[in-house]
Amino acid sequence: LLQFISGLTCGSYRFFIVVVFSNRAQSWASLEELHGQGKLRAIGVSNYTPAHMKALMQSCKVPPAVLQVEFHPRLCQPELRSLCKEFGVCFQAYSSLGKGELLTDPVILEVAKNSKRTPAQVLLRWAVQQGVPVLPKSSNPERILRNAEVFDFALSDPDMDRLSALDCGQRFCWDPSEVA
Ligand SMILES: NC(=O)c1ccc[n+]([C@@H]2O[C@H](COP(=O)([O-])OP(=O)(O)OC[C@H]3O[C@@H](n4cnc5c(N)ncnc54)[C@H](OP(=O)(O)O)[C@@H]3O)[C@@H](O)[C@H]2O)c1
Repeated sequence: LLQFISGLTCGSYRFFIVVVFSNRAQSWASLEELHGQGKLRAIGVSNYTPAHMKALMQSCKVPPAVLQVEFHPRLCQPELRSLCKEFGVCFQAYSSLGKGELLTDPVILEVAKNSKRTPAQVLLRWAVQQGVPVLPKSSNPERILRNAEVFDFALSDPDMDRLSALDCGQRFCWDPSEVA
């Protein structure tokens, strides 16, 4: 792991990606050790379910700074959000646009039309308005700029509720509950 981390050092920034295939607790202990040595400033987890989070919080010395999971109106993750709040862990969204597939949802389109915003902006605003940081991906420079314009408007409470009511547990990525 140390070699892997030093291999990814780039200028004054240090990036690392840890893929855990087994032994979650031991992997976290290794990250805690590197954190204790000052080699990692912050450590976090991704694709943890409520069960994974509860187990981690019972055994960890250093709590995760962040939990990154799939989050959008069709997958609102209320239990995970409330656990993150309780444990002081930043809940961070990925696939906020449903990998692009939510951009044609009729409810999203209607809210976008009424608020004179793009469907992507509506989806991203829905998350940030709840205090959830987002990681939208686009390879298109114009879309990247437009996607960032979500801090100069607010969705009404009824629109927020309409979007949240789309929750049906649908995933566009994989399901981490299949991991023991
Ligand atoms: N931790 C994990 O396990 C995990 C898993 C999945 C993803 N992620 C992270 O989350 C980031 C985003 O997630 P994601 O890529 O799954 O999905 P996403 O951000 O929900 O959707 C990305 C797709 O939406 C399109 N798009 C973006 N903005 C658009 C716009 N304004 N109008 C129309 N289409 C638009 C993109 O196409 P164009 O490129 O053509 O704009 C791309 O196909 C990834 O980059 C990745 O770093 C993490």
